[in-house]
Amino acid sequence: MSGRKKVAVLISGRGSNMEALIKAARAAGCPFEITAVISNNPGAGGLKTAREEGIATAVIDHREFETREAFEEVLYETLLVFAADLVACAGFMRIMTEGFTRRLEGRMLNIHPSLLPAYKGLHTHERALRDGVRLHGCTVHFVTADLDGGPIIIQGAAPVLSGDTADTLAARVLRVEHKIFPRALALVASGRARLENGRTVIEADADEAAFITSPSL
Ligand code: GAR
Repeated sequence: MSGRKKVAVLISGRGSNMEALIKAARAAGCPFEITAVISNNPGAGGLKTAREEGIATAVIDHREFETREAFEEVLYETLLVFAADLVACAGFMRIMTEGFTRRLEGRMLNIHPSLLPAYKGLHTHERALRDGVRLHGCTVHFVTADLDGGPIIIQGAAPVLSGDTADTLAARVLRVEHKIFPRALALVASGRARLENGRTVIEADADEAAFITSPSL
């Protein structure tokens, strides 16, 4: 029996962050394993990748449910079936109710493509370009009922360069996402990052602290 934490990854699309998590889980000593990939979108490209990696998948199409709560009930039951210790939202494009987030408090992480609390919501790269910011990036945070507002675990910065389009900027930020999401998940899986009284508490050594403040591209 391994003591690794079982992680269910929630996706809605391509699943490149999911792939980064799968790859990280294969490394020796990684404190988590990816045991399931669940999508609300039957057409999500990441489902095929997950199957090819030999990971169990499930589709729960939100359009088949009358209410958000009914969809989340089935999602929660599915997480129980997979005995998920932790949930990683990797491009999962559903807003969650307070009740659902409460049930998974401290156990559900999300990656967001901005340096929160800047640019919550959608179209983060377009908005960053419009504002002319020079520093952009991504954030992994615990999911709470406060949309994109849960306690931050790790952030990674990426520069905005002249001539950037939303696509070139998104690609640069995505490379950082792939670095920080596995690190954040490992910190939580090993118990060294925790949600306590609405804040993230992290026990990190100096090297990790340096990574947390400034993961290199
Ligand atoms: C990622 O950039 C992720 O940060 C973003 O969706 C993309 C998914 O890409 N998430 C959100 O916008 C959540 N509000 P992926 O499917 O290739 O990981």
